[in-house]
Amino acid sequence: MTNAATTPPGNPAEANGQLHFPDGFLWGVATAAYQIEGAAAEDGRGPSIWDTFSHTPGRVIEGHTGDVACDHYHRSADDVRLMADLGVSSYRFSVSWPRIQPDGSGAVNQAGLDFYRRLVDDLLAHDIEPWLTIYHWDLPQALEDAGGWPARDTAARFADYAQLLQSALGDRVRYWTTLNEPWCSAFLGYGSGVHAPGRRDAAASVRAGHHLMLGHGLAVQAMRAIRPENQYGVTLNLYAVSPQSDSAADADAARRIDGMANRFFLDPVLRGQYPADVLGDLRQVSDFGHVRDGDLAVISTPLSMFGINYYTRYVVAAADPDIEREPYGRDPSAFPGSEDVQFVSRGVPVTDMDWEIDAPGLLETLQRVHREYTKLPLYVTENGAAFPDKVIDGTVDDQDRLAYFDEHLRACQEAITSGVPLRGYFAWSLMDNYEWAWGYTKRFGLVHVDYESQRRTPKSSAKWYAEVIRRNALPA
Ligand code: NOJ
Repeated sequence: MTNAATTPPGNPAEANGQLHFPDGFLWGVATAAYQIEGAAAEDGRGPSIWDTFSHTPGRVIEGHTGDVACDHYHRSADDVRLMADLGVSSYRFSVSWPRIQPDGSGAVNQAGLDFYRRLVDDLLAHDIEPWLTIYHWDLPQALEDAGGWPARDTAARFADYAQLLQSALGDRVRYWTTLNEPWCSAFLGYGSGVHAPGRRDAAASVRAGHHLMLGHGLAVQAMRAIRPENQYGVTLNLYAVSPQSDSAADADAARRIDGMANRFFLDPVLRGQYPADVLGDLRQVSDFGHVRDGDLAVISTPLSMFGINYYTRYVVAAADPDIEREPYGRDPSAFPGSEDVQFVSRGVPVTDMDWEIDAPGLLETLQRVHREYTKLPLYVTENGAAFPDKVIDGTVDDQDRLAYFDEHLRACQEAITSGVPLRGYFAWSLMDNYEWAWGYTKRFGLVHVDYESQRRTPKSSAKWYAEVIRRNALPA
């Protein structure tokens, strides 16, 4: 992937009124199994923690579940055609673990595997590069019953599952992501409890984070042993983090949130060690007795690429009993050891998730990872925004989402111009889908989904994205 031949001289990227991306840049859309597939009890699929969680009253808004979702399990051929119409070069999807191993271990459920084999073949027939995420949060319930991610054995089960997928699909899928956003699995799943399995236990969440990373490292080793030619990576949800003021207390709050949100995963995976200050902040929570000799070497197994999901910036302040602030942003219990930090709203425009729109934060994040952590090829494996779309006369004119994509793609372009080896970008999401604890109330799609009829309607942002892909450029 070089851009030598067609990129115009001078500023590299700008010519004929357009801001070009390098030749071979991967333009994608992303989804995840539980958010779109439905068919929760079909073809031998076992229950996952998200089935249990979503069916537990009070956990998900309006009691929404993923039982039907976008019914993608029955409509994948139509959905691949939608992607082909968009002209995407890649599709990032995840495999539902309990479709492959209904109890989380042992023999393969062939009917479940066949679904993904058909999907992959269909993508390839449409010239769309399949990008497979092995784990996007749907742990088989049987493994949760045996202790879940806080239990070390789950890491070994995950590596077996990854190896099995690699044997079955590694001849046709080149890009492999082990985990999607392990921060969410560990700290929303076991810390604040707003995600499945809904436990609120700080020490368990720290153990879960470690075992997720251990599973990642073991999986990369097992898969590479079978197919060394494929590309292996992980996707972290990273944030730009800023202190609200220049006080020392706010700077320390920002250091701690950066520690728990970003460096807790970045440092072990890319440097083979936990950051000393994070271990210090977690002193009261965990003695890290679950870390065994050799774990960090496994966790930092060399990768072929690195994935970043970016949505927003965190602005934080030290809690001060004399200052009353509107509650805003994340629940601090998802940041063990830093429960006294406050997330602060700057009053800038937000998306329907109430997340501040901050494209410079994406540039900052890409440059930081490249400068401080790794020279590997980087991919934005997710970026996007929920807005309260309105269907008017059968169309959705989502100028707000289109502007969000435009700004963030400019940030990507600037990162590339500054020397960051960013090789691809995946819009979240192909279509509206099940937004976890928010159910179907938040819409992130380029394509609108009417859940009653399952009708798909490309929004204005989809038409705009298709044009960007066709030109391999933004308007300058
Ligand atoms: C990150 C997650 O990977 C995805 O599942 C989720 O829907 C989006 N962010 C939006 O919150």
